[in-house]
Amino acid sequence: MKKYITTPIYYPNGDPHIGHAYTTVMCDILRRAWKARNDEVIFTTGTDEHGQKMQEAAEAAGLSFEEFADRQSARFRELADLLNASPDFFIRTSMEEHKKVVHEWLSSAHEKGILVKKKYKGLYCVGCEQFKKESDLDQRGFCTDHQKAPVEMEEENYFLPLEPHRQWLLKYIEDNPEWIQPESYKTEVLNMLAEPLEDLSISRPKSRVSCGVEFPFDSEQVVYVWYDALINYVTSLKILGADFDSYWANSVHVIGKDIIKPHCIFWPIMLRSFGLPPASRTFIHGFFLGEGHVKMSKSIGNVIDPFETIAEFGTDALRFYFAHNAAIAKDSLITKDLLASSYSVLANNFGNLYLRTFKMLEKYNNAEIPDAPQSEENKKILLGLHRIVGRVGDIRDLSDIQTLATDILRLSSEMNGYIDAAKPWALAKDETKLDELMQVLNVLGQGIKYLAEAARPIMPDTAEKIIKSFETKEPVVLFPKREY
Ligand code: MSP
Repeated sequence: MKKYITTPIYYPNGDPHIGHAYTTVMCDILRRAWKARNDEVIFTTGTDEHGQKMQEAAEAAGLSFEEFADRQSARFRELADLLNASPDFFIRTSMEEHKKVVHEWLSSAHEKGILVKKKYKGLYCVGCEQFKKESDLDQRGFCTDHQKAPVEMEEENYFLPLEPHRQWLLKYIEDNPEWIQPESYKTEVLNMLAEPLEDLSISRPKSRVSCGVEFPFDSEQVVYVWYDALINYVTSLKILGADFDSYWANSVHVIGKDIIKPHCIFWPIMLRSFGLPPASRTFIHGFFLGEGHVKMSKSIGNVIDPFETIAEFGTDALRFYFAHNAAIAKDSLITKDLLASSYSVLANNFGNLYLRTFKMLEKYNNAEIPDAPQSEENKKILLGLHRIVGRVGDIRDLSDIQTLATDILRLSSEMNGYIDAAKPWALAKDETKLDELMQVLNVLGQGIKYLAEAARPIMPDTAEKIIKSFETKEPVVLFPKREY
C-alpha cells in the first residue's frame, strides 16, 4: 500500500526545539514500521519560512529573509539527520515550485469566486500567526500558548468563508471516526465547530508583512502564512512526482496539539474548496513540558536542547525515550533526570541482555548461535519472543509505538530473568548438561535477534549493530556508561 506521512513544517525563526525533534522521530518510526511491512511510504518534513514571525526574526538577526531562512532551515535539516529520520523530501516554503502551487490554489479559488475582499479588525497573535477571538484568550487577555497580549489590527484582506462548510465538516468527522486521533482532541475540534466559523483571512498587506508569497492577482497582498504552509503537503508530493491520488488516499499528518485548528478546520475546508478530500488521518500529540511541568523557557532554565541531548545520550536513546515516555493524549515531562533514568533502564535491561547473551555465546560456542533442537517449553518461549517482531507490522498510530517500546523492555526483563533461572554458567560445568546449555544459548541468541528486529523502527542503529555483531562475531557497546 502507498502511504504518506508528514510532520508539520517548522518555523525556523529560532533553533529547533525538543518538541520538533519529537514529532519528527514519531513520523520516522511510523515510516520505518510501515516500510518493514512492505508499504511504499513517503515521509516529508521541512520549514515554514514566511509570515510576520520570520520577518521579525530575520530583522532582529540583521539578515535578509533569504540568508536567515537558509541558515535556520539548515539547522532543522541537520537535526533530522542527527535523529536518523530520513525524510524523502525536505520542503521549504521559499521554494519556487511551492509558490507555483500556492498560486494555482489561489487562482482557482479566485476564479470560482469564493474569496471575499473586505476590511477586518481583530486581535492578532504573532506567535500563533492567527487572529484570536476574546474567548481564545485568558483572563488577562493573553494568548494561552504564547503568554502575550495579541495586538489589535485593522486591514483589508482576502477571506475564505469557512461557515458554508461547517455542517459538511461535522458530518465528515462523524462519518470518519478515525480521522482525528486520539478521541480527546476530536472533542476539541467538535467544540470549535459548535459555533459559526468566522471567515479565514488569507492575505496580509505587503506594506506590513513582506515575507510571504505574493498574491497572484493582487500585488499589494501576500499570502497568509498558514494558507501557504498547509499547501506544503500537496507541493511535496508534486515535487516528488508521486502518484498523488494513491498517496493522498492514505495520508497521515502528525501534529502537536497547538495546531489543531489549522489542520482540522482550515485545511479540510481549503482542500474541499480545491476539490480534494481531507488527508486520511490526523494524529495529534500533547506537548513536552520542562522541569516544573511548565513550558520550557530559557529564563526558567528548563530547556532540553535536542542537539545537546543527542550529544549526551545518543540518537537511539532519545528516540527510545520519545517512543516510551510520551503520553500522546496528554502533556508529558522531559527533564535531564528523566532522560538519564530512561537511559539507565535501557542500558541495564536491553543493553545488558545483549551483552550477557553475546558474552556467553562467545565463551561457550565460539560466538555462534547454536542450532539446537528445542524442548517444548523453550519453543513456547521462542514463539512468545517471535511474536513481538510481528507487532511491528501492527503499528497503526502513535500509541502502538508506545506499546511496542514497553513490550521490548518487558521482554528484555523476562529474558534477563530466564538467564538467571537457567544459569548457563552452571550448565557449562556439567558435561551431561551440554545439550541443555545449547538450547538455552539458542533461545537467548534468537531472542535477542527478535528483540533487535522489533526495536528496529525505534532504534535503527542499535538494531543494525546487534544483528551485524552476530555476523562479525565482534560484540558492540550499545549504551556506553555515562558519568552523572
Ligand atoms: N509552522 C507551523 C506549522 C505549519 S504545518 C503546515 C508551526 N511551526 S512550529 O515550529 O511552531 O512547530 C509546531 C510543532 O512543533 C508542533 O505542532 C509539534 O509538532 C512540535 N512541537 C513544538 N514544541 C513542542 C513541544 N514542547 N512538545 C511537543 N511537540 C511540540 O506551528
